[in-house]
Amino acid sequence: MVMELNGLTVGLILSTIMPILYYLYHVSRSKSKSLPPAYKGWFPWLGCAFEFGKNPLDFIAQKKELGRIFTLYVAGERLTFITDAEDFQHFFQSPFVDFQKAVQDPVLNVASVSKTSFFKYHTKIHDMVKGRLASSRLIYFSDKLCDEFRDQLTQLGKQGKGDLHHLVRKSMYAAVINNLFGKNVLPVNSEKEFEKLEEMFVMFDEQFEYGARIPSVFLKDWSSAKKYLIDLFSKVVPKTINKKSDDDETLLHSLLNLVQDQYKPNYSLLLLWASLANAIPITFWTLAFILHDEKVLQKVKTELTSVFGQNGQCPTITEEGLKKLQFLKWCVLESIRLRPTGIITRRVIKSFTIRDMEIPEGDMLMLSPFWAHRNEKYFPDPLMYKPERWKEADIDKNVFLDGFVAFGGGRYQCPGEMFDCKLLINSIPEPSKKHLVGTQQPAEPCPVEYRLRK
Ligand code: HEM
Repeated sequence: MVMELNGLTVGLILSTIMPILYYLYHVSRSKSKSLPPAYKGWFPWLGCAFEFGKNPLDFIAQKKELGRIFTLYVAGERLTFITDAEDFQHFFQSPFVDFQKAVQDPVLNVASVSKTSFFKYHTKIHDMVKGRLASSRLIYFSDKLCDEFRDQLTQLGKQGKGDLHHLVRKSMYAAVINNLFGKNVLPVNSEKEFEKLEEMFVMFDEQFEYGARIPSVFLKDWSSAKKYLIDLFSKVVPKTINKKSDDDETLLHSLLNLVQDQYKPNYSLLLLWASLANAIPITFWTLAFILHDEKVLQKVKTELTSVFGQNGQCPTITEEGLKKLQFLKWCVLESIRLRPTGIITRRVIKSFTIRDMEIPEGDMLMLSPFWAHRNEKYFPDPLMYKPERWKEADIDKNVFLDGFVAFGGGRYQCPGEMFDCKLLINSIPEPSKKHLVGTQQPAEPCPVEYRLRK
């Protein structure tokens, strides 16, 4: 059938089609341009800062009702959370998000490192630490670390009691510091001075995330702790600086050889924090979980005995021996799974799209390892401590379980992950959900009794 189109018909068609096309174009545009659902709170500029600040981890979980991607308005910032592991690749791989731009301000606040210095040295420092802590080099650390631990544990005496977290701090701070910073470079030998150092570091660590955001005039104790630690490093730096580069070079030497401006003490403090803030609480949690579960404890003991023998003496730890401690490694990873850092962040440097939602430039992109590790899809019975679930991973090849993001990812992933993988309690303390940065601290003491094996 041939249809004759006259001017009127064409006009009619155009006048109906054009609005439809125009409508469809806008619907699709507005669909692809929609922002994530948001919660703005009640206060101008502050947004939901008070509600969020009271109990941030639970608040994030509650706001998941908004959708798998959502935004919170907090103190002048848009914090956009991605909660589905299927979207995590955007966080770790997208060229539109930036690690350095997310952490530069907090680094300025917590360690007073200038913006220029930060952008000049950050990548170099990251690469140096990564190279020094590469798995092939870990054996150089583990020998000395064992000697250090042995010394520290001997000082605990043949038996005693106390809070497990305190005991772990007491014996590990000195060992790790001597190992990474050089023997007695910091005052670990003098009981009084070391107690002061420990007290100042604990204060600095506990309020670290507040220090990153809140002006220091509001944080008197935290600011004094920061000053004490930077002053301490200011005295240490000149003594350490001229050390020649050789195989015995510590991580601190490498750092001081690399940084060539006045912020050497400040970077030293950051390195101290990065090496202790996660590894020490994770050691506490690992011991607490193991001691809490009789079956797990027996398995760990059997494994240790099969590798190092019955002898009660502290054995020599070899790389071969460490490789055989499969179950203990699962226990460490399972503890890290259940007690990872609350949050990691990236700055959005150019708007981009996730699942048809626009993530605008300037947003802080947020990912919570704490909640990601409680996702049933990836971790069945997510709240149960089940070291055996790590059977599926290939730890020797550094392949963890899907959905496991405790060490972050992408270009600036934690360079200490390999370094870290290397004692009856009635109940496990709850993690404190008040902190977002760093491993969860126990919310209450965890009393233990210990005695040396015969
Ligand atoms: C269980 C132990 C540890 C955990 C769970 C952990 C976790 C993390 C996480 C989540 C990040 C941020 C990564 C990101 O945003 O993608 C990080 C960064 C970092 N970690 Fe670790 N870490 C641990 C142990 C260590 C140790 C032992 C060291 C050093 C000896 C270390 C050194 C660092 C450094 C230097 C950074 C900053 C990276 C940068 O600025 O480029 N970490 N860590």
